[in-house]
Amino acid sequence: MADRRDPSSVTAPDALHSHTVAIPDLRALDGFAAQLADRARQGDVFALSGDLGAGKTALARSFISALAKREGAPAPADVPSPTFTLVQEYEIGTQRVFHFDLYRLKRPEEAIELGLEDACADGIALIEWPERLGGYLPRDRVDVRLVIIGSGRRAEVVPRGRAVSRYSGLPPAGESR
Ligand SMILES: Nc1ncnc2c1ncn2[C@@H]1O[C@H](COP(=O)(O)OP(=O)(O)OP(=O)(O)O)[C@@H](O)[C@H]1O
Ligand SMILES: [Mg+2]
Repeated sequence: MADRRDPSSVTAPDALHSHTVAIPDLRALDGFAAQLADRARQGDVFALSGDLGAGKTALARSFISALAKREGAPAPADVPSPTFTLVQEYEIGTQRVFHFDLYRLKRPEEAIELGLEDACADGIALIEWPERLGGYLPRDRVDVRLVIIGSGRRAEVVPRGRAVSRYSGLPPAGESR
């Protein structure tokens, strides 16, 4: 029975761990990002999806500054959007963070040339436009889809694979702090 796998039986259990977080403003975004950063460790992959302007880069910036706080390390002076470089790397205390923006990726293989696999293994990867990776998107990851709601946002969080145990059931933003 265990080897009778169809795609739905592989993906369905993850859906049970999905949850939605209201992020009405940038302050709430900082709170949400801090909850992710507090749990984050080497090898974690965050797939940040959502329309243009949904807040993926803003979330990455908040995450990096929350991680710096956790590590007792200085926050990077600048966290530019990797629109043209496609990836920016940071050393934050003991952690390495790789911030990807794959909007301009021409083919998934290009991400491998950019060092995607090492980034996902050696650091914490924040990936905007993860859809561009096709089959190269790591299976163990946290999907964070940002949806624009008026002037605020909603995050739909789905931890998958090894990420499930640490990222299931995040409290609503603001309640843990
Ligand atoms: N939760 C939020 N509440 C209010 N404003 C927000 C929120 N999140 C992001 N914003 C604002 O939305 C704007 C666009 O955000 P951002 O550049 O992060 O989007 P993006 O998803 O990275 O876009 P792109 O697809 O172009 O990379 C910014 O001005 C940002 O401050
Ligand atoms: Mg962006």
